[in-house]
Amino acid sequence: MGMRVRSGMLKAGGLVLLVAGWAVGAGAQTAHGVQGAQVSQVAQAAQGAQAGATSGTASRHSAVAARPHVAATRPVTAATPPMGWNSWNYFAGKVTDKDIRDTADLLVSSGMRDAGYVYVNIDDTWEGERDANGKIQSNEKFPNMKALADYVHSKGLKLGIYSSPGAKTCARFEGSLGHEEQDAATYAEWGIDYLKYDLCSYSGAMRAQFPNDPAAQNKMMREAYEKMHQAIGKTGRPMVYSLCQYGWDSVWEWGPQVGANLWRTTGDISANFDRMSAIGRGQAGLAKYAGPGHWNDPDMLEVGNGKLTLDENMTHMTLWAMLAAPLIAGNNLTEMKPEIAAILMNKEAIAIDQDTLGRQGDRVFADGPVEIWAKPLKNAAGHKSAALAIFNFGETASEMRGIGLHLKEAGLPAHVTARDVWAAKNLGRIGDDYKVTVPRHGVVLLVVR
Ligand code: GAL
Repeated sequence: MGMRVRSGMLKAGGLVLLVAGWAVGAGAQTAHGVQGAQVSQVAQAAQGAQAGATSGTASRHSAVAARPHVAATRPVTAATPPMGWNSWNYFAGKVTDKDIRDTADLLVSSGMRDAGYVYVNIDDTWEGERDANGKIQSNEKFPNMKALADYVHSKGLKLGIYSSPGAKTCARFEGSLGHEEQDAATYAEWGIDYLKYDLCSYSGAMRAQFPNDPAAQNKMMREAYEKMHQAIGKTGRPMVYSLCQYGWDSVWEWGPQVGANLWRTTGDISANFDRMSAIGRGQAGLAKYAGPGHWNDPDMLEVGNGKLTLDENMTHMTLWAMLAAPLIAGNNLTEMKPEIAAILMNKEAIAIDQDTLGRQGDRVFADGPVEIWAKPLKNAAGHKSAALAIFNFGETASEMRGIGLHLKEAGLPAHVTARDVWAAKNLGRIGDDYKVTVPRHGVVLLVVR
């Protein structure tokens, strides 16, 4: 069904999107060329407006025209996909203040912070009651949110929190409905740097308000997300704004217009290969919606969770890096094995994800369970550069019999200089006849130029 919605959308807005896509790419490149990752906030807003299918031509033009004059202002929030950790995938409803402090300590001592994982995000179940003035309190698991934020900040990390536009969160704790400005102000006062805003009970409110009218329901949803965007803006504190509404209503088309730095594109991930890989593969076609400041979010990492094998964990990390996905780890750092740490902290895989060109990769070839994905990277020494991932989602080792690297489909020359990321090996010059063996549920990840 997802695919049908997407191709319909393409037909409806093909030309506009094509033009907007070019403008976004060009803008990002120019800004990076001038000042590294520091793209101006106004340019980001311009990109956001451009990425939306419904934005008018006039606003696109004025935004583009405005860009050169504002290039040296504030840095973009989430210029590259956010990296950090979130409590939900492992701790779920049991997370406590101590878990967050332990995680902060371990992000530092494991080297993860220095590898880029800087956001420590508390997911659902921190919420307490509202006081007599309507101000949200944390519950007994989190005795003092301000003190916790100070602790996390003292470690050179940032703190994220979670709420819902509905009256109740998904775990049936207090949501922000009717208290948006007050909650955003409270988060700012505590020192929060990141908000995940999860639709949850608000979908019931939408259906109750507009039964049998999906268009009106969706409008109501967008307005709720815009309301919190405005509320965050009023605080004056930069916060990464993370939408979680499971990819409904082609959120990638309008997410940037409601200030989203990232938006979930799917329902929940779980720590098993089938679910993880189905989500990852299902992102094909969404690349054009991602860029500096606004990213598709195929959900948080399950690397190190459940019974994922080493190959499956590498496939997971590779897929997310190829997708320029937010890298939000979700494992229990108090029991992280060295081989899991090595996957999460593989510098070259992270560099692919965080490449400042900000282009999401896409599938360029599929033959049954074998898929090849390519992600354009910033030019290296004047050469076109890209990451190429050869996946085997099947049940037996593939020797890629008869299947070349499909360099042409990836927009690459017939011969490239390649490096195998997971093998940490330079391969020299290779062409389409290069043969790889890809284990069951495994991947070979190349950086080529
Ligand atoms: C779900 C969301 C999960 C998690 C959970 C908390 O809706 O997709 O990522 O946040 O709610 O209750």
